[in-house]
Amino acid sequence: MNISEHQATAPADQSKPYCGYLLRDLQNKAPSNLQILRTGPGTPMGEYMRRYWQPVCLSQELTDVPKAIRIMHEDLVAFRDREGNVGVLHRKCAHRGASLEFGIVQGKGIRCCYHGWHFDVDGTLLEAPAEPSDSHLKDTVCQGAYPAFERDGLVFAYMGPPDQKPEFPIFDGYVLPEGTRLVPFSNVFDCNWLQVYENQIDHYHTALLHNNMTVAGVDDSIAQGATLQGGFGELPIIDWHSTDLNNGMVFTAGRRLSDEDVWVRISQMAFPNYMQNAAIVAAAPQRHSGPAMSRWQVPVDDEHSIAFGWRHFNDEVDPDHAGKEEECGVDSIDFLIGQTRHRSYDEMQRAPGDYEVIVSQGPMAIHDLEHPGRSDVGVYMARSLLRDIIAGKTAPDPVRAKAEANGGGTLPRCTSDTRLKIRRRADKEEDSAVIRKACHQVLAVMKECDEIPVDQRRAHILQRLDEIEANL
Ligand code: FES
Ligand SMILES: [Fe+2]
Repeated sequence: MNISEHQATAPADQSKPYCGYLLRDLQNKAPSNLQILRTGPGTPMGEYMRRYWQPVCLSQELTDVPKAIRIMHEDLVAFRDREGNVGVLHRKCAHRGASLEFGIVQGKGIRCCYHGWHFDVDGTLLEAPAEPSDSHLKDTVCQGAYPAFERDGLVFAYMGPPDQKPEFPIFDGYVLPEGTRLVPFSNVFDCNWLQVYENQIDHYHTALLHNNMTVAGVDDSIAQGATLQGGFGELPIIDWHSTDLNNGMVFTAGRRLSDEDVWVRISQMAFPNYMQNAAIVAAAPQRHSGPAMSRWQVPVDDEHSIAFGWRHFNDEVDPDHAGKEEECGVDSIDFLIGQTRHRSYDEMQRAPGDYEVIVSQGPMAIHDLEHPGRSDVGVYMARSLLRDIIAGKTAPDPVRAKAEANGGGTLPRCTSDTRLKIRRRADKEEDSAVIRKACHQVLAVMKECDEIPVDQRRAHILQRLDEIEANL
């Protein structure tokens, strides 16, 4: 990992007191590492992201009028025609450029309001009313269009090369446990996609930012609402591991809950921009539960992005029913305050949350100005892995191969919360080592599920957890 290299190159002046005058020019430094920040057409990161299905809006945003969207620097329009087919088209009409956001949704496709050109969801020109009947325009013109579909309230589009369109990977956490409900949401961020994605890899902050980092006593309701309960306040023992699932990575986070109990939390990132989070509402960790949220960090342009995703609701991940489905929606989410831009400046200052810390890093965080420590290994690892992929050093698509290999069946996930009976060791270092070992063993069990039929995975995991406990 390149953390030590980065530290070694930091200018000596940065370690002197009252060095503001010496460092003043750094405040206006241009962003670096642009190759993993920029996602416009033709950029390496943008082309990599375009190889995957990306959520582009919520189903509820498709009404009787078109929805103007901007994804990876491309101005688009999304709509659902009256036959129920979804279209994601270039926004400017192929005729003379009027915006299709003012188009009229048809039984089949959409009609531009200016001269009535009528396009199907795949961009086919169906009709050009002002043209003579012998016109060949329909044979020579097509509106730019992308394949799109809806699933559980999200609209997905594939914006990459037509001959490389993958299957949509389906994780078992979308359908397990039985009765799981996927509730769509979006959260708008006024900054580059990567710093939002990195925030989820940076799990240490849950014990800091989300743990009484408030102006206490001024407004008790805000202070209380900003604090994650359960074991989150404990600084975890974290390791980051690369995985072959989309060249992604996972982190394992171990915390001691009591003299008898250890909590192992695993969250999984599938590159380029997908993550599954474990339980996120306050609750004591269960014996074993799966994902509480799936989230794609989708670039709008280089300085804006939207998190689209599903909250997963089921009795395993949220046995107390603390989650609120009705609060999930367009730029709205139900967990923790400080996830959106909708609070007052005063509220943001008194009880800062994820939105404040992420967006205040700037429209594009300047990596060269950071002073990373060991706790930042995960973030730097993610950047390094992403750079390797877009540089062609790593084959990018194992997740696609797996989904196709099992006929589009469900992919196992590592994301989980697990509670293990492990007695506290008197020696603190020994206790930490045992917790770390437990984390790695639980991760190994989750990876074993790759080979286990989906309906047998939970039984297998529970049996293996018993074995881990017996051996620790
Ligand atoms: S600009 Fe769309 S039909 Fe003329
Ligand atoms: Fe957070």
